[in-house]
Amino acid sequence: MSPAPTARGTFITFEGGEGAGKSTQVRLLVEKLREAGINAIATREPGGSADAEILRDILLSGLVKPLGPKAEAILFSAARIDHIDRTIKPALEAGTWVVCDRFSDSTRAYQGATGTLDPRFLAALERVTLAGLVPDLTVVLDLPADIGLARAAARRGEGGRLDRFEAEDLHFHEALRQIYLDIAAAEPRRCLSVDATQPSEDVGHAVWDAVVYRLLSPPPLNEPAPANRPQDGNPQDGDSKDERHGG
Ligand code: TYD
Repeated sequence: MSPAPTARGTFITFEGGEGAGKSTQVRLLVEKLREAGINAIATREPGGSADAEILRDILLSGLVKPLGPKAEAILFSAARIDHIDRTIKPALEAGTWVVCDRFSDSTRAYQGATGTLDPRFLAALERVTLAGLVPDLTVVLDLPADIGLARAAARRGEGGRLDRFEAEDLHFHEALRQIYLDIAAAEPRRCLSVDATQPSEDVGHAVWDAVVYRLLSPPPLNEPAPANRPQDGNPQDGDSKDERHGG
């Protein structure tokens, strides 16, 4: 008799503007998952695989900026394809949970915030890049753009260099915050928006509650399943959760 197939891992992404505290939350969540006996890895975008890390350096240096947001979106997507193929998919297939600092919503938000890209271009690019892989849970860490930029500046310290996107103006960062809020509102089954002005422990509790409620607990008998569980059937809100983990 062949052994039972390994259950697929769960895919969780963190999103948000500059200074939202994603890296801290990724670390806290991976620690909690491991304490709960779940195999979990942390990864990030752009990057997360050897070749994608090379593209990360190029993208964040600003070298691609003169080619325009379309080229940047394509290059972020090229890095994402390698990251998915080399890191994310193999881990999920081995039953490992993957917690990723930024993913495809970053392209929607950052490249979308330029206001110069046709949304149909971004949607088509996302479709071919992800080939059906959709996060089971996306945590959007929300905070006003000016607070996030001030936090990022404090973290960088005096004399630290602004990277390609930190250097954009406040209007850009406000626009991308709004895109994230719109994504979270449009896809409530996949997304959870958390107030990131709270202390990081409180943000961590909110994230853990969502992981337990949406991803770990079985739905109680005689009660409708919670709206955000990825295994629910019958999407009513336009979420593409039925595609999750496809591809
Ligand atoms: P990073 O140093 O990882 O910053 P952060 O802590 O804000 O995640 O830099 C990643 C930068 O790249 C960040 O400014 C967001 C941007 N980005 C995009 O513009 N598009 C993308 O698709 C991704 C993944 C990131």
